[in-house]
Amino acid sequence: METVVSGIRSTGNLHIGNYFGALKNFVKMQHENRCFFFIADYHSLTTHPTPEDLYGNVKQVLAEYLACGIDPQVATIYLQSDIREVTELYLLLNMNAYVGELERTTSFKDKVRMQPDNVNAGLLTYPVLMAADIIIHKATKVPVGKDQEQNLEMTRKFARRFNTMYKTKFFPEPTAYNFGEKLVKIPGLDGTGKMGKSEGNAIYLIDEPQVIRKKVMRAITDNGPTQENQEMSEPVKNLFTLMDVISEADSFQFYLEKYNSCKIRYGDMKKQLAEDIISFNAPIRERIIEIMADDTYLGKVVREGAEKARESARETIKDVREIIGFKQFGGRVKK
Ligand code: TYM
Repeated sequence: METVVSGIRSTGNLHIGNYFGALKNFVKMQHENRCFFFIADYHSLTTHPTPEDLYGNVKQVLAEYLACGIDPQVATIYLQSDIREVTELYLLLNMNAYVGELERTTSFKDKVRMQPDNVNAGLLTYPVLMAADIIIHKATKVPVGKDQEQNLEMTRKFARRFNTMYKTKFFPEPTAYNFGEKLVKIPGLDGTGKMGKSEGNAIYLIDEPQVIRKKVMRAITDNGPTQENQEMSEPVKNLFTLMDVISEADSFQFYLEKYNSCKIRYGDMKKQLAEDIISFNAPIRERIIEIMADDTYLGKVVREGAEKARESARETIKDVREIIGFKQFGGRVKK
């Protein structure tokens, strides 16, 4: 049985990019693997949430995990901040992470551009904390979307560096995983780039039908093809990508043929796409609302999850301390 770890930052409601890039695979993988799915609440601190927002967002993501079908009886669901061992491993890994390589990561460079007034050290060492999250359970597979590919490369590098430095094979080198397929990138509705929480182009799992309709109908398109089988512009390609993951294969094929024969009416395609997203979201949305109202259940899930995750993390940290050379003077100090 392989060990799987993945997490999502608690910075707001989850969108369909999170679902198709990550959550869908969490649910698919949970029965065949030893799975740890957590809420990356430490990572969310890079943007300085208020205590109320921090709590609210963690609760929301937790309810959304459960609503999407992660079963706490089979997978371990926990909050990153409940596992102190993660912060210890983070500190230890930081000693072998170089400022130059961290400064060169694309996500760091993006953040520097996007929030020049808040380039904190947590942002710089973000990939180190992420590596700690993953290798604390000695995971081999990490289900994530395309945007996390570089972070996974960094994780492998830090694991490998530790192994080389201490002449050990202790940490496996985990890989970004999507059932042998390419990693997923769900586009936004604004014509360019990926769907993201901070990009203002997302459809959330909790969105109401009229909100979804409005967002989809406003999605950017073009003037339509003028030649048969014309290459698609990026905004149109994005609409087709969304339809490909959400709608029935027949609908996708129908509109593709319309496009290729220059008979497409984008308005009709958008209407169909909106209705398909609404039907997809409806049962998840209902469950989110139901679960959000059940604090007792949510409390039980994170308490039990923390216990199981801590057990696994404690084992790893104990070995890591030995490997690094923190020897015991006169027996182990009880922690
Ligand atoms: P985050 O919170 O930005 O995104 C969570 C997951 O959703 C995927 N995702 C997407 N997939 C496809 N298309 C999109 N438009 C899209 N937007 C988001 C992401 O790839 C990710 O899988 N650094 C991570 C959180 C993290 C983590 C970890 C993940 C912290 N520690 C350890 C895995 C393992 C992040 O910010 O994801």
